[in-house]
Amino acid sequence: MQIYLDNAATTALDKEVFEAMLPYLQEHFGNPSSIHSFGRKTRAGIESARKTIAKSLNVSPSEIFFTSGGTEAINMAIRCAIDDLGIKHAITSKIEHHAVLHTLESLENTGKIKLSFVKLDKKGHIDLVQLEELLSSNEQSFVSLMHANNEIGNLLPIKRVGELCEKYKAIFHCDTTQTMAHYKMDLKSFHVDMVNGAAHKFHGPKGIGFLYVSSRIKIKPLIYGGSQERNMRGGTENLYGIVGLAKAFEVAIRDLDTHHAHVQGLKTYMIEQLKKNISGVDFNGDAEGSSLYTVLNVLFPPTENAEMMLFNLDIAGIAASGGSACTSGSNQGSHVLKGIGSDMNRPSIRFSFSKYTTKEEIDFCMSKLKEIFLVKV
Ligand SMILES: Cc1ncc(COP(=O)(O)O)c(C=O)c1O
Repeated sequence: MQIYLDNAATTALDKEVFEAMLPYLQEHFGNPSSIHSFGRKTRAGIESARKTIAKSLNVSPSEIFFTSGGTEAINMAIRCAIDDLGIKHAITSKIEHHAVLHTLESLENTGKIKLSFVKLDKKGHIDLVQLEELLSSNEQSFVSLMHANNEIGNLLPIKRVGELCEKYKAIFHCDTTQTMAHYKMDLKSFHVDMVNGAAHKFHGPKGIGFLYVSSRIKIKPLIYGGSQERNMRGGTENLYGIVGLAKAFEVAIRDLDTHHAHVQGLKTYMIEQLKKNISGVDFNGDAEGSSLYTVLNVLFPPTENAEMMLFNLDIAGIAASGGSACTSGSNQGSHVLKGIGSDMNRPSIRFSFSKYTTKEEIDFCMSKLKEIFLVKV
């Protein structure tokens, strides 16, 4: 038995998505920039994909730019906004993804910006009062705060942050990698300037994503080259990736209500089972409050074989993570858990679910966890 509970790292490709991509891997191979019929066919595929995404987010297709994934979209958002809009101050939090943190830190190190970190409470929620203080006491700021944290799942009050950014004329980038296509989003009602997505987080292919840039702001490219993406991102397009991204988006939004209810049900069930069966169990983040339904980060009681837990689960066929994908196998390196002051001497494991996860799989995982903790209890 193999059980995949690491869907925040990446998700399995949906069969419908694979089928939509196939013609673009086989017969439709023209370069979308070519003006002949082969190129026109693939250009149409790309523009139709752009429209699908734009429509679902209630934005204009001209505000969507395809990228190689979440990381590139985030680099583009941050670097271009700071370079092209003359911004000298940025606000973020200590628990952002490294794509955000390392990009901002590199800009701080070269003296381009002053970087401020907004305070977090124990559950990883940002201090809105301090955010307002930071916004009001600095000249125009660039704000990058994530919609849902990939390790602990806590959700940002995105509308409230957007309102504050609007009040102080700050540019607001929200890393929506974990929430894109997991919630219905009307970006026009959010006062957000830039958001990003990556197809592999919602059953699409890897290596393709996008950045939404509001028409309110004018930035230059991050990657220079040909005139692709209306001169905003050079390079021949990842055609089948783009087609797969749009199909994955369409399928996710179409079935969202059913899958949301199913996955939230599994998360709630696992929380109940953990509390019932493992004494001293806790959760990192705000698992039972404002939290992404696909992620559950469990803080287990101290155990002698703490560092072996993920390994033992893996041997039992259960794939989970110690934090984010890059720190799999250990929570020692998790800047997120450190950032919220979690007890680093206790083992933390992130279980993350998808529409394909079943109750039987949670039961099997629970039986293995009980075995591990019987040693102690
Ligand atoms: C919150 C968040 N931001 C950014 C990324 C980076 O996305 P990608 O791996 O597609 O570049 C991830 C992926 O783990 C993520 O979870």
